[in-house]
Amino acid sequence: MYGGSKALFFALSRSTALKRLASKYGMATPESFARRFIAGETVEEAIHDARILQSRGMLLTLDYLGESVRTIDEASAATAEYVRLIDVIVKSGIERNVSLKLTQLGVTVDRATCVDNLRRILDPAGKHGFFVRIDMENSPYTAVTMEVFETLWQQEHRNIGVALQAALHRTEQDVRRMIELGARVRLVKGAYKESPAVAIQAKKDVDAAFVRLMRILLDEGTYPAIATHDEAIIASTCSYANSRNIARDRFEFQMLYGIRRDLQARLVADGHRMRIYLPFGRQWFPYFMRRLGERPANVGFVLRAILRER
Ligand code: FDA
Repeated sequence: MYGGSKALFFALSRSTALKRLASKYGMATPESFARRFIAGETVEEAIHDARILQSRGMLLTLDYLGESVRTIDEASAATAEYVRLIDVIVKSGIERNVSLKLTQLGVTVDRATCVDNLRRILDPAGKHGFFVRIDMENSPYTAVTMEVFETLWQQEHRNIGVALQAALHRTEQDVRRMIELGARVRLVKGAYKESPAVAIQAKKDVDAAFVRLMRILLDEGTYPAIATHDEAIIASTCSYANSRNIARDRFEFQMLYGIRRDLQARLVADGHRMRIYLPFGRQWFPYFMRRLGERPANVGFVLRAILRER
């Protein structure tokens, strides 16, 4: 079911009819179903939620949703939105940290344009003390994501890091490379359905790989982010850090907006650094479908919400 539901929801995320239906009901009011995972369609709504989270002692990364653009113009528009977002964040006074995807900046259209677009974001971001995290997309983009990251790293951009997926066979090698560079990694399990040729299939084996990589990153990495809602893995991270005398300010936990809010609050209360990934924007459908694919039980609450709103 683990990989099967991911594949099913990935296929459904391409359906325009479903997208139209979801767009009609998903965000219409603050109670609409997609709001559980997405702050809203506008940056103002995201800033509103960001302020609430900050007042609860949480750190943030804002994600202007979008991916898989098909033209250079679309990539350029997404880049301009990120530059505008940097400006809005600076004016709002919330924390300076954003996440983005390379297919949003045009990596599938033209790689050089994508590098230029990322640079257009990193320049103002660097000037204003932002950290920029590159999300990791599905495996056809892993190598190019690492290459684009390194191109910019070698050009002395240091306000940048990547997410790496424990599920992929290649990830230990990527983790080692990031350690060698002194670059920051966000470790995640991996949200996409992948083939056995590139990825571990059984959930328990992905979990074991995550724990192994978490330990390597805590021992040798630069301020790693342990991004999971898995309580057992979080407990294992805390006890490993304790056993190695790794201070709480040398790593952080990260979770997605709207998932395990109880655990988010508990980790803050226990004195841990807890960053919330806060997505917003009109292109929320594929992100939303990945959240359903991770936990098919979520479909029940969506159906109930749709029936209520009709
Ligand atoms: P797991 O799936 O085992 O879930 C553990 C528990 O968390 C569940 O039992 C449930 O309680 C809760 N939970 C998890 N997902 C839920 C959901 N959708 N709805 C409700 N409850 C849920 N992936 C990727 O491929 N590239 C990336 O760049 C990122 N970036 C990223 C950033 C951050 C901050 C996080 C936390 C995660 C990502 N991910 C990601 C997603 C990640 O790969 C993974 O798919 C999800 O985090 C779910 O896996 P867990 O580690 O939470 O474990």
